[in-house]
Formats: sequence, structure tokens, C-alpha cells
Amino acid sequence: MHKSSTLAVPETADIPQHVAVIMDGNGRWAKHRHLPRFAGHQRGVEAVRAAVKACIDRGIEYLTLFAFSSENWRRPAEEVALLMELFTGALTKEVAKMHRNGVRLRVVGDLGRFDSRIWALITEAEKLTAGNEVLTLTIAANYGGRWDILQALSRLAKERPDAVAGNLSESDLAPYLSMSYAPEPDLFIRTGGEHRISNFLLWQLAYTELYFTDALWPDFGAELLGEAIIWYAGRERRFGRTSEQVEAEQQPRKDGAVAGATAPPRRTRANA
Ligand code: IPE
Ligand code: IPE
Ligand code: MG
Repeated sequence: MHKSSTLAVPETADIPQHVAVIMDGNGRWAKHRHLPRFAGHQRGVEAVRAAVKACIDRGIEYLTLFAFSSENWRRPAEEVALLMELFTGALTKEVAKMHRNGVRLRVVGDLGRFDSRIWALITEAEKLTAGNEVLTLTIAANYGGRWDILQALSRLAKERPDAVAGNLSESDLAPYLSMSYAPEPDLFIRTGGEHRISNFLLWQLAYTELYFTDALWPDFGAELLGEAIIWYAGRERRFGRTSEQVEAEQQPRKDGAVAGATAPPRRTRANA
């Protein structure tokens, strides 16, 4: 499935195929209400439910959520423990419903640091939902973009030392990245007002449209997702080309050379 936005120009449409989100601002949401940080994380789980539903309703095929970064272990032990409890609870309670709704669940990250109970729940959930095709929901847990590139390189070196010794190419590495089953994200959303990537999908975000909102994650829902998608639909995705080239390529499609049902129209800022 892996398609590279730096090796070839991908098909694009007004609705992103893959949305990747840094769900930030749970702590501040709670603080504004004089509640413990944990209350914000609890509301954050509800916002995840809303986001999954909104993505299904809009026909988005891949949703990737940053739930816990490799750097989040630096938080107070109590908060880390509560986040693990919440993750375990969600894996226990939410998977059956996701399965009914056709959601395929994947968890990416350095899972070795999680306890065996979480491991087992992840394995079970991935197995149960493996055949689902409505939405692929990926949870990035103990994930770091640098970790991902390094683990891919290590596995490649082990399995194909010849490739590493020669002229290593992007397509050699791609199958080993932890999200090789998904296209690269079209739209990245970060809530919570910060303008940074925080070691999320470093490799995969090469040509992703980056959207930042001040809204705090517990307040995020269908409406704010809609705003992000409207913004996305107004982008001209050039992938290195000029605006004129993008428009020229779009012309034959407008004239009906390509069946509209199978190939979504390309978009430029002028016609958005
Ligand atoms: C994001 O919210 C959730 C996780 C990182 C697990 P935060 O907990 O970072 O919320 P703020 O940034 O402190 O408001
Ligand atoms: C990023 O949020 C990680 C997750 C949302 C899981 P943080 O709140 O930890 O990010 P920084 O450290 O402030 O950049
Ligand atoms: Mg934060």
C-alpha cells in the first residue's frame, strides 16, 4: 500500500484519505475547569469517539491518532499510570463497537514498554478487526518518528544487508516503516495551539498539509473536523510542481477525460 509523495505525485481529492492528529490540550482543558489533568484525558477519549464517527461519516479511510509519545514517559509517574489505565479501558470497552462499525484497529509504536495485559488486548483487537475496511484507525502509542525510522532501518539491515550496503533507496526502507499499510497522511491536525510535530510521523509527513488549531482536544468534534477539511480543500497540493502545471494537468479531467466516479477531481486554490 505504501505510496510515496516524494517518488510520485499521488491522487488527491477534496476529502483527505488519511488524517493524522496530534490530540493536544487535554491538561489545559481540565485546568481551565479547575479539574485534575486526568479529567481532561477522560474527555479526550470521548473526543476520540466523536472523531472516529465523524471520519466514518465523511468517508475518510485512515485516521491516525497520537495517543502517547516516546517522550511522554517523562511525565509524572501518576499521570503515566492513569493514561495507561485509560488506554487499557478503551481497548477493553471500545473495540467491540468499533468492530461492529467496520473499523480496523492498528497500534503502532515501541510496544515493548507496555505491560503484558495491554499487549494482549492490542493483539486481540488487531486480530478481531483485521478484515474491516470502513476506516483504519491507528493509535500511535509510545511512538516516536525517529524511533520509527531507526526500527525500520534496523529491520532492513537484518533482513536485507545487501540493500543497506548498496545505494539505499526510499522504497527499500518504506515497507519497514510501522505504517507501511497506509498511504501517507494528506491532512495533519494538531489541536491545543502548539505549532510543532513533537516527534510524530516525521518520515510520513513529508508532503502532508499541516493544520493547527487553538481548540483543545476535548472540544474537538465533527464541526471542527469539518473546518479543517474545508481548509484542506482550499490547498493547492503541488508536490514540487508549479501552479500552472497543476492546473494544466487538471484540465483534461475537467473536460471529462477521466471518469469522475473513479478519479476524484484535482483541486487548485482557484476552484476550491
Ligand atoms: C495531550 O494532552 C494528551 C497526551 C499527551 C497524552 P496534554 O496532556 O498534552 O494536554 P496539555 O498540553 O497539557 O494541555
Ligand atoms: C504530543 O503532545 C504527544 C501526544 C499528543 C500524544 P505533548 O503535549 O506531549 O507535546 P509537547 O511535548 O508539548 O510538544
Ligand atoms: Mg500537551
